[in-house]
Amino acid sequence: MITNTELEYKGNLYPNQIISFNQDVDKFNFTSENGVILQITVLRNSALRFRYATENVFEPDFSYAISEDASRGYGDLEVSEEESYYLITTTKLKVLVDKLTMRIQISDHEGNIINEDEIGFHWEENYEYGGNTVKMSKITQNAESYFGMGDKATHSNLKGKRVNNWCMDQYAYGKDQDPLYKAIPFYIGLHKNQAYGIFFDNTFRSYFDFAHERRNVTSFWADGGEMNYYFFYGPEMSKVVKAYTNLTGTPELPPMWAMGYHQSKWSYFPESNVKALAAKFRELRIPCDALYLDIDYMDGFRCFTWDKKKFPDPKRMMAELNEDGFKTVVMIDPGIKIDKDYWVYQEAMEEDYFCKRGDGPYMKGKVWPGECHFPDFTNPEVREWWAELYKEFMSELGVHAVWNDMNEPAVMEVPTKTAPLDTRHNYDGHPCTHRKAHNIYGMQMVRATYEGIKKYVYPKRPFVITRAAYAGTQRYSSTWTGDNVATWEHLWLANVQVQRMCMSGMSFVGSDIGGFAEQPNGELFARWIQLGVFHPFCRVHSSGDHGDQEPWSFDTDVTDIVRKYIELRYQLLPYLYTMFWKYSKFGEPMLKPLVYFDQEDTQTHFRTDEFIFGDHILVCPVQEPNAQGRRMYIPRGKWYNYWDDNIVKGGKEQWVEADIDVIPLFIKEGAIIPKFPVQQYVGELVIEKLDLEVYFKLGTESSTVYEDAQDGYDYNKGDFSLRSFKMNGKENSLVIQQFKDGAFMTSYDSFRINLHGLPFAIESVEVDNEEVPLNEVKPNGNDVIEICKDFTQVIIKG
Ligand code: GLC
Repeated sequence: MITNTELEYKGNLYPNQIISFNQDVDKFNFTSENGVILQITVLRNSALRFRYATENVFEPDFSYAISEDASRGYGDLEVSEEESYYLITTTKLKVLVDKLTMRIQISDHEGNIINEDEIGFHWEENYEYGGNTVKMSKITQNAESYFGMGDKATHSNLKGKRVNNWCMDQYAYGKDQDPLYKAIPFYIGLHKNQAYGIFFDNTFRSYFDFAHERRNVTSFWADGGEMNYYFFYGPEMSKVVKAYTNLTGTPELPPMWAMGYHQSKWSYFPESNVKALAAKFRELRIPCDALYLDIDYMDGFRCFTWDKKKFPDPKRMMAELNEDGFKTVVMIDPGIKIDKDYWVYQEAMEEDYFCKRGDGPYMKGKVWPGECHFPDFTNPEVREWWAELYKEFMSELGVHAVWNDMNEPAVMEVPTKTAPLDTRHNYDGHPCTHRKAHNIYGMQMVRATYEGIKKYVYPKRPFVITRAAYAGTQRYSSTWTGDNVATWEHLWLANVQVQRMCMSGMSFVGSDIGGFAEQPNGELFARWIQLGVFHPFCRVHSSGDHGDQEPWSFDTDVTDIVRKYIELRYQLLPYLYTMFWKYSKFGEPMLKPLVYFDQEDTQTHFRTDEFIFGDHILVCPVQEPNAQGRRMYIPRGKWYNYWDDNIVKGGKEQWVEADIDVIPLFIKEGAIIPKFPVQQYVGELVIEKLDLEVYFKLGTESSTVYEDAQDGYDYNKGDFSLRSFKMNGKENSLVIQQFKDGAFMTSYDSFRINLHGLPFAIESVEVDNEEVPLNEVKPNGNDVIEICKDFTQVIIKG
């Protein structure tokens, strides 16, 4: 037990006795005798916000993280005053505020404590910069586990670890290195099957200690700003993640091609090489939708220019690539070369758009083009200007998408690797230094990029990629995990990082497949592709100076494996697109770690390797050389081995065969998985038939398939197709019902139903209450049924 004297001794200040209380609709204000105000806002029955002011004054309430579309609304709300505490009661939670110490205890209606302050709020005054170091400490509950926190290259369960958030350029980072490129101060706690989440919306450098320093204490603090955190209650982890994602927002649907396979390198040039690359994909029949141009397409690394020696006619080149089904994605960095003859530099100087230092000079930093100034993207006027810079690229030249890099911002040759802390920012009218703006700098850059791209590719959908991010960046952009390394350990890391990002609201994410630094051998590349096709963003990228990393850069065996898996991704596009739709609409993470999938099973709390892709596909990459298979945990329930349809019972660790061309994949029984035919790029073929892979289950299970025009915005006007399939399996019958929603007419109205694990021989088939002769619907044996209409019910009897 920490005493108040100890606290004072450590230089900490803490609230004392509450002397007044008032309620303003959904806001409760408690004021302590020494001038701390605690404001609790009830956002929803199970979502609360806690803010603390010192010296009786709150900061202006402003956040880049919170989405305008966040839902609000709660049912009954009551408050009562007892002798030693106040009690706020929602339909889901009870919040107790201790009168003497202002400490909080949150419990459910059964009296289970979900989360409880240890010291609770305390702070240290910061003489040098003013303001406070704001701190919060919580009691670590018995057997509590912690997840989330965005991009942390460490074990998925954070118990016992300390991490901090400060966007950093980390070339060739290592396991446990921290911080990396992103700052997402959101975690999920889980104990006694109760999950809750805490989002500390503070953009200063922040720190989280998960029972690392003291075994029974979890704490978080920041170098400045306010103690301002949101609390989400589950008890299901899925509810927590969705509530956080609802608050910080989801992306709109990207064009479907953005979910295809992408090929990148630093750098493909000149034009002839890019053309040869494209031709090779088509020649070898390896599907691919996008090719990337890294910094070398620019003239001396000046953003928004072209090196005309390498790319004499970018417009023609991109049009020709497009003819062949390739989209071109180009890189744009934040640093603008100091060059009086360069138009972007001139415009920014004229308009005073560059960041300045504390005493007035422009902030200067070295990046690829040499000395640069950096636009202040936290100024709305600068964002508008930046958005307009894309006009020529997008609407005249035909660039399809943009990749924002180095936006932490990265600065070379200085120990801090970033802008000096006294750099000034507008912060949307709340002027501040880089201490406060650093973690959202990249986010505001990519936000401006997104606005520009969206405007100039309209009526098509924008696709943008960023390296740096703060909570909420998912509204604007996809992302990748930065400069990883071609090692087996990094394959493990990529798997953990992408899952963790999905749990932290940012699902549209992938790694540089094969590794950015150094060179993978064929085996590592093959194993990485097997994982990468199950990542929401699927791109091979490499630094290019260690050799090539194209699908054909290794043995032909490897090329065949790579093709096989990219083809599988293209077959699964309707499934993947549906995953994205669920993410976009409901905030559901596209990949689900096992703990998310089955939190009641405590065995899942320490698993890192296995994850659920969407709702029904269990994936577990092989992460070491020379493997013939691996041990893996199969979650509870019955699963079909994707490769041989063998049914396994989960709930234990088991050995799974996985020769070099196999990644362990299992399908949940009862699932109906939609598949397209293999296409070389999205939209190459008019889909004439939807394949439904039906995995028989005794009992019921639902699956959905969302489709629309794959680009554009008509889906917002009801032009989508949502098919919900419900299967009901019995000893000698199987019923598949289809419910349809939306006005979109899919290009097909027939289905090939591939039956897996049907326990009986088919005697009769009824489609929409009419029996059909078996020779009409059963082209080959017992397990395929062709139905040439948009059915509402199929009954298969044995
Ligand atoms: C950074 C990026 C990397 C890119 C390189 C050159 O290191 O993370 O992806 O290739 O810069 O632009």
